Amino acid sequence: MSDVLTGTTGTAGTATGAIRFRGWNEVPPQFRPPLPPRHFVGRDAELAGIRAGGVTVLSGPGGVGKTALALKWLQERRSGDQLYVDLATQDLDQLLRAFRLTGVDADDRPAVFRSLVIRRQFTLLLDNVDSADQVTRLLPASGTVLVTSRVKLNLPQSQEIDVEPLADDGRIGQLLDRSYVELPERQARLYRLCAWQPGTFGVPAAAAIAGESDCDVEDALDDLVEKSLLTEVGDDAFRFHDLVRAHARTKRYQ
Ligand SMILES: Nc1ncnc2c1ncn2[C@@H]1O[C@H](COP(=O)(O)OP(=O)(O)OP(=O)(O)O)[C@@H](O)[C@H]1O
Ligand SMILES: [Mg+2]
Repeated sequence: MSDVLTGTTGTAGTATGAIRFRGWNEVPPQFRPPLPPRHFVGRDAELAGIRAGGVTVLSGPGGVGKTALALKWLQERRSGDQLYVDLATQDLDQLLRAFRLTGVDADDRPAVFRSLVIRRQFTLLLDNVDSADQVTRLLPASGTVLVTSRVKLNLPQSQEIDVEPLADDGRIGQLLDRSYVELPERQARLYRLCAWQPGTFGVPAAAAIAGESDCDVEDALDDLVEKSLLTEVGDDAFRFHDLVRAHARTKRYQ
């Protein structure tokens, strides 16, 4: 196992092996943290409460802003390499393969992962964790780890931060207004109409509300996601953050 990690044997030990391992020092793009929302607001206390060196679990209801908070902290910290794993859509085998750690037995994968994180001194974000069992074996013995979860995890030697809904002190509305006025009319209309859709909705539902084709609506929804006005929560499923939905509803009758 350690040979796999250090890359000292097999193809990695040969001259051509060095070329084959050229990607070794790069974090594969799908495991780099995405940027936080462009118009990030508030969360000063939570940002200050996350400490470097240790495990911090950000827990709170869906859509409250856990991932955004974690990504903002990573962006502000800007130190060293950062590794992002979305456990809702990515698994350990995919990650190890992306780092060219192939052929690792399933039982050994958590240990190989921990060694990788420690060796590279990654700051680690484990996003969308369902249960403590899912991550306990992934936690490295040292370094900084952020975990987001909708449930309390009670991980050993971790601090847990409850992420509460953002209180709108007026700033959020102003920021949303700024994004809203820049929207082309089709997107603006979709933004207003879909806000009356409760919970998560798909492209067909949005198309029916707007009276447009799935294809046109899909592009417009993607645009809203890009502008952080809408959240994509899986394959072609979308949801508004509560504050954004409230903002969009105020635009309905204007
Ligand atoms: N502080 C913030 N400033 C601006 N936008 C925010 C902030 N927090 C969250 N958002 C926006 O709200 C939406 C939901 O946030 P986020 O995805 O972080 O929620 P979450 O708690 O991780 O939800 P889930 O449990 O579904 O993963 C996103 O569009 C995000 O960009
Ligand atoms: Mg999240």
